[in-house]
Amino acid sequence: MSTAKKEYKRITVKSLTEMKRNNEKISMLTAYDYTMARIIDNAGVDVILVGDSASNVMAGHETTLPITLDQMIYHASSVVRAVERSLVVVDLPFGSYQSDPKEALRSAIRIMKESGGHSVKLEGGSEVKDSIKRILHAGIPVMGHLGLTPQSIYKFGTYTVRAKEKAEAEKLKEDALALQRWGGCFAIVLEKVPAALAQEVAASLTIPVIGIGAGSGVDGQVLVSHDMFGMTHEFNPRFLRRYLNLYEEMGNAVGQYVKDVKDVDFPNDKEQY
Ligand code: KIV
Repeated sequence: MSTAKKEYKRITVKSLTEMKRNNEKISMLTAYDYTMARIIDNAGVDVILVGDSASNVMAGHETTLPITLDQMIYHASSVVRAVERSLVVVDLPFGSYQSDPKEALRSAIRIMKESGGHSVKLEGGSEVKDSIKRILHAGIPVMGHLGLTPQSIYKFGTYTVRAKEKAEAEKLKEDALALQRWGGCFAIVLEKVPAALAQEVAASLTIPVIGIGAGSGVDGQVLVSHDMFGMTHEFNPRFLRRYLNLYEEMGNAVGQYVKDVKDVDFPNDKEQY
């Protein structure tokens, strides 16, 4: 059997289903601005998530709740301008879809029209069923998000692993099947749940399951890019692999720049007109 991977010029929601069918793992990272999106797209990531984690990473809020729809559209449109290959998924922020399905559809339409994003993601299972159906009926692809859902942090109280208890695991499995069945979501993010449960969910679905803190038995992985680059340093969950230590490297570069300016070493003769 050939192990050659299919080359995708442009990733679509269909490409992701095909990747799952072909046992090719899906790579996904967050981006919130043009420059970062350009690097990530050019390096071959399949899906770029304009996550509402921008609320933490870009704006320094403690939770994802404060970010607004206008702010998400600003971040998403910057990302879309950079992207040539990746599929762009944009988070519907807290408060833009929970109150009623018509508002959810209006919010999703604003994201698609004003940012040029390719799809939306929203958190929850049966509670947001009608909103998801409404958005899907308008022809907008939807990615689900189950397990740890940061927009509900005040309901749960902590960011600990979810669905360790049987009842919560059963509800999660039902929700995952329902997200696919309703016509349906093209993929699901599963955040911070036991690896065995995540593997079971992925095996029960034909749509891809992208994990974060959900083990290797799922169809792809997502990380917040600022965490995987080591630009953030206070956040150290077990699931995070840091590929660089940019917090230290950038700090050292800034320190060197300050020294060069103070010592009148920068600019030198060649760095002026
Ligand atoms: O907002 C985000 O970055 C996310 C990921 C953690 C999946 O939803």
